[in-house]
Amino acid sequence: ASSVEVDVSSITPGMSLTVKWRGKPVFIRNRTPEEIKAAQEVPMADLKDPVARNANISSDAQATDIDRTAGEGRENWLVMVGVCTHLGCVPLGQQGDFGGWFCPCHGSHYDTAGRIRKGPAPENLHIPNFQFLSDTTIRIG
Ligand code: FES
Repeated sequence: ASSVEVDVSSITPGMSLTVKWRGKPVFIRNRTPEEIKAAQEVPMADLKDPVARNANISSDAQATDIDRTAGEGRENWLVMVGVCTHLGCVPLGQQGDFGGWFCPCHGSHYDTAGRIRKGPAPENLHIPNFQFLSDTTIRIG
């Protein structure tokens, strides 16, 4: 199937789940308030890739924290393709200089909104099409 439904009811703040979608890992993270605050406070001028890379919104939307997430009221949820935008390794969670993800292959650091902040990766981690079917179920694809 081209879409996958995921029960996220057991993913409490600070927890993540990785699911497979179209042969790729997808990271689902319930961010902590601290992670959200850290990402919200980043000046847009500090971003290497200013584009949201979020398939659910306009392709030229800016990479604000809210537009990297599931949106108003669900800004704790990050859903991202877990493939480094450099050469495709799988980044490791809650590591690196910005407390988000770190790709060990060539040292790309992503922040708590999955935005590239340092290293060779050119783009933020991509956000696939997804939607909440209920408060506890996400459909990806
Ligand atoms: Fe991730 Fe090169 S593949 S830094």
